[in-house]
Amino acid sequence: MIRGARIALLLALLIASQITLAVGEESKLVPHPPKGRGEQCVAATDFMRRNHMNLMKHQRDETVREGVRGKAFSLTGCVDCHAVNGADAKPVSYADSRHFCRSCHDYAAVSIDCFQCHASRPGSEKPHAAQGVGSTALAAVAAYFQGAANDRK
Ligand code: HEC
Ligand code: HEC
Ligand code: HEC
Repeated sequence: MIRGARIALLLALLIASQITLAVGEESKLVPHPPKGRGEQCVAATDFMRRNHMNLMKHQRDETVREGVRGKAFSLTGCVDCHAVNGADAKPVSYADSRHFCRSCHDYAAVSIDCFQCHASRPGSEKPHAAQGVGSTALAAVAAYFQGAANDRK
């Protein structure tokens, strides 16, 4: 009788410790993206998880090649609703591992170059791109086009 109770207790403890272990490990193994602002994303959350990269690339092509702006999948919009505040109550930039866009990427070893040009937090100096398209890179491109134009003359 007593022995049976002891075994039951031991089993219960074992199971309990297994569960805590599982939960503790899961929270380390799975990314935890911070919650976005508002009720919903620009598309269903599940869809966004899987397809955001394609949506955005498409959007970029449309903007850069055809001058389409301000559509649903603007990067400015993502950064706006998915801002995460640091200790100073100001949104962190992509340099900070707490940034929304890094919450899964760090985990999945995905690296993106988007924020070399685009602002990674809302209300940044530069509304759209051009952060990293600093003077040197831009001047080089301008010089190239100038040269090409001159060649045709
Ligand atoms: C070399 C600089 C550069 C890099 C790197 C870059 N972009 Fe852009 N992107 C631009 C420029 C320039 C525009 C045009 C901005 C405009 O005209 O409003 C643009 C526009 C966009 C737009 C539409 C406008 C907006 O604000 O949303 C999206 C979406 C976009 N880029 C997504 C991306 C994504 C995603 C990446 C990374 C995979 C990326 N870009 C990397 C320069 C860059
Ligand atoms: C109007 C505010 C808003 C805008 C704009 C927005 N989102 Fe969201 N996003 C949300 C909300 C709310 C959710 C669902 C709640 C949550 O964060 O889990 C969400 C969910 C997501 C998720 C899934 C997160 C998870 O927990 O798995 C991804 C990925 C995502 N958004 C990416 C983007 C990208 C990329 C853009 C820009 C193209 C964008 N979002 C624009 C509000 C927004
Ligand atoms: C819910 C998790 C999650 C969040 C949050 C998230 N991503 Fe991603 N992202 C991924 C995964 C996973 C991949 C890799 C998909 C693949 O390789 O098929 C990826 C890939 C990408 C790619 C393509 C990279 C490449 O090499 O082609 C871009 C661009 C991108 N994400 C942009 C963003 C931006 C911008 C944000 C923040 C607004 C963001 N992601 C937030 C999970 C996420």
